[in-house]
Amino acid sequence: MPLPKAELHLHIEGTLEPELAFALADRNGITLPYADTEKLRTAYDFTDLQSFLNLYYGLMAVLRTENDFADLADAYLARAAAQGVRHAEIFFDPQAHLARGVGIETVVEGLGRALDRAEAVHGVSTQLIMCFLRDESAGSALKTLETAKPYLAPHGPIVGVGLDSAEVGHPPAKFREVYEAAAALGLRRVAHAGEEGPPAYITEALDVLGAERIDHGLRCMEDPELVARLVRDRVPLTLCPLSNVRLRAVDVLAEHPLPAMLDAGLLCTVNSDDPAYFGGYAGDTFYAVRTALGLSPERLRELARNSFVASFLEHDEERRAR
Ligand code: ADE
Ligand code: ZN
Repeated sequence: MPLPKAELHLHIEGTLEPELAFALADRNGITLPYADTEKLRTAYDFTDLQSFLNLYYGLMAVLRTENDFADLADAYLARAAAQGVRHAEIFFDPQAHLARGVGIETVVEGLGRALDRAEAVHGVSTQLIMCFLRDESAGSALKTLETAKPYLAPHGPIVGVGLDSAEVGHPPAKFREVYEAAAALGLRRVAHAGEEGPPAYITEALDVLGAERIDHGLRCMEDPELVARLVRDRVPLTLCPLSNVRLRAVDVLAEHPLPAMLDAGLLCTVNSDDPAYFGGYAGDTFYAVRTALGLSPERLRELARNSFVASFLEHDEERRAR
């Protein structure tokens, strides 16, 4: 029986397995530049974040219809549920689809179809977080927020905004205005920071964007004052250890700073980021960190507990306090 857990850092486009990519390519009359799934998998030899993003955005070409997005989300939810995920806060990249002529309505209606039945079919509650591409302009992000308005909570599935894509050279402050607009709309705010970028980007995401959770946050360990602040303010970090190894932020899993981060008192969670590309879903990730880092059962329970504490689920005690 896998440990019940919430998944808080998961890009739905990063769950596109090679087999599904080829099936969707077939369905949509698209020829992929790979002979077969094995050839595609051999391309998953990344040297950094950008080398991964190039392939990730390229393979999205197969996602064209509502059905495609529904099938993608259904496949993820089935795998996640089998590995103990009870709640998933799912990222998606609307600008990456719009750039290919696929509108946000196709993406959200399709994903929504799978999400609407996820509780009944898979026993998983879900929320959507719309990410802005930080290597695109702030104006593009603002326009994207505008097009998303019909799909925002409480009437639609989008509960929050995030910031992803190429980090270095794209500091969070560029998106101040769009995060202010998102806050005014009652949306939750998260941001990738400190994956490849410096600890200062984490500080900026907190101070300028009002980020409630930091996605990755790995490089906070270079700044003891920042660590003290994150501990004091109980700011959750959504770590993705398998991703860090595959994108070479960390040499080998056995050297991942997760144990030191937990020892420092940080509110860490572990997540799968882009599991089709990085070698594992939520349960695989828990198993990998347990094995490589020798985490005790109590530490694993702490990580699972943290995932619910750090989630945007309504907490009973908070509700009572209001
Ligand atoms: N988009 C998908 N996965 C990502 C990651 N790990 N970092 C930044 N952007 C991403
Ligand atoms: Zn990510």
